[in-house]
Amino acid sequence: MKTILVTGGAGFIGSHTVVELQQSGYDVVIADNLYNSDIEVLDKIEEITGKKPHFIKVDLSKTKECNLVFETYNIDGIINFAAFKAVGESCSMPIEYYKNNMNILLNLLDNMKRRDINYIVHSSSCTVYGEPDSLPIKEESPTKKAESPYGNTKQMAEEVLSFVVQATDINAIALRYFNPIGAHSSAKIGELPRGVPNNLMPFITQTAIGKRKELVVFGDDYPTKDGTCIRDYIHVVDLAKAHIVALNRLFENKNKKPLEFFNIGTGNGFSVLDVIKSFEKTSNTKLNYKIGPRRKGDVIEIWADTSFAEKLLGWKAQKTLDEMTLSAWNWEKALSKK
Ligand code: UFG
Repeated sequence: MKTILVTGGAGFIGSHTVVELQQSGYDVVIADNLYNSDIEVLDKIEEITGKKPHFIKVDLSKTKECNLVFETYNIDGIINFAAFKAVGESCSMPIEYYKNNMNILLNLLDNMKRRDINYIVHSSSCTVYGEPDSLPIKEESPTKKAESPYGNTKQMAEEVLSFVVQATDINAIALRYFNPIGAHSSAKIGELPRGVPNNLMPFITQTAIGKRKELVVFGDDYPTKDGTCIRDYIHVVDLAKAHIVALNRLFENKNKKPLEFFNIGTGNGFSVLDVIKSFEKTSNTKLNYKIGPRRKGDVIEIWADTSFAEKLLGWKAQKTLDEMTLSAWNWEKALSKK
């Protein structure tokens, strides 16, 4: 049985990926500093899969703590989720974002090189593209100047990987996520934002449950079908599954290049109002929302060309927007019962 180190494995996308890994027969070590997640997630994962993942609480941006993970466990491959991820926060804390996100990756790569661990799946983001020139966006589309330090760390990480794979035996796949939302069908794991959510879906569910007064839709005067921004929302379980397929591709040496990039979205663009409508339908509630001003830094519209992932990975997102909003709602309701 292969052992996979999942950094940030107690987080939103990480925890769903751990479940899929365990269900695909992998042994999992989670390394997480619990900065943005809860230790209880480990029990929830065990309730779903019947197996508790190994866990080590470390700050991977600190070299010694990162080394400790590799001294403690024999690792065959890595999925790297550990990162600070709030776009707005990164603008006021750029140094912390660069230090954290880049040091984590460098410490991991350093250990990989020294210990002959040759496979890593890295979480990247569609944010590397900026405002697209044409849609749907393909992997070979040019990346644009980042709008935030957060986005810049995603671009820099891809560049670091591109040079490291040339100089070492390391093989990497960077998955460029679009907008992950939703939660596991068990409603045992899901998104746990710290403080006031920045992202649309948790803000919607927290408003509906009564934790927030109202949702503000950031602008309805964009040149889109209903004036609100368009995104490619993807169910977090579909996204989690893409990591298993990418990892298997590396282990089976099926990758065509030592570093590959894949768009991980559904290929469908939905507006903010589409998401609200879907949520109101699946939750059978009326959402309290109003139209407000635009949010700085938002791209107008973006959705993925997923043909490359379909062809090379044999992976395609399965779940509909209604399944995404319903599962997010079930998770919020389960949280509120605690
Ligand atoms: N939105 C609102 N009101 C809110 C929150 C969001 O109207 O309270 C709108 C935004 O303006 C945007 C859409 O909902 O049009 C989606 O916003 P999110 O914040 O949920 O997601 P983003 O597309 O801004 O950001 C996401 C991830 C980032 C990633 C980025 C890539 O959160 O990590 O996609 O474009 F970098």
